Amino acid sequence: MNIVLIGYMGSGKSSIGKKLAAILKSSYCDLDEVIEKKEHRSITEIFKEKGEIYFRTIESKYLIEVLEQNSNSVIALGGGTPCYGNNMDEITKAQGTVSIYLKASINSLSNRLFNEKANRPLIAHLETVEALNEFIGKHLFERSSFYNQCKIVINTDNKSIDEVVE
Ligand code: S3P
Repeated sequence: MNIVLIGYMGSGKSSIGKKLAAILKSSYCDLDEVIEKKEHRSITEIFKEKGEIYFRTIESKYLIEVLEQNSNSVIALGGGTPCYGNNMDEITKAQGTVSIYLKASINSLSNRLFNEKANRPLIAHLETVEALNEFIGKHLFERSSFYNQCKIVINTDNKSIDEVVE
């Protein structure tokens, strides 16, 4: 069975995914890392050199490959992956796949993201916590209907990584 981890940037998909995979003795796959490897450049470089539409197009392509090629893995997606094209449908209909939404409040996400925005092209330019809060709030409003289609929703606020993994 594949476990697909979904959630906004900073929701803990990668850290939780790595630990969960180790405990389940599954392999761990990170869609952003797959994209960077296949495209021979960082996500930031892809956004800068080719633009977001190009990124969203290849993100959908590699999502399908990753869902097809893994059978016993924990797969962490990018924060926007389920929200473009038919991606959420592809995830829902993938055989033997359980989707989990790692839900977090605007404040938790903003606290986690403020010092980690440099490698995230969508938020790297936001200079204040207020601007980041506003951006996340707007984005969550648009994206939650996709995230909430997951089979399982886990509220991660005030929980440690180990608690969420358990
Ligand atoms: C994005 C999230 C990023 C990465 C890209 C776009 C988004 O992944 O895919 O910068 O649209 O939310 P993380 O959620 O792993 O930071």
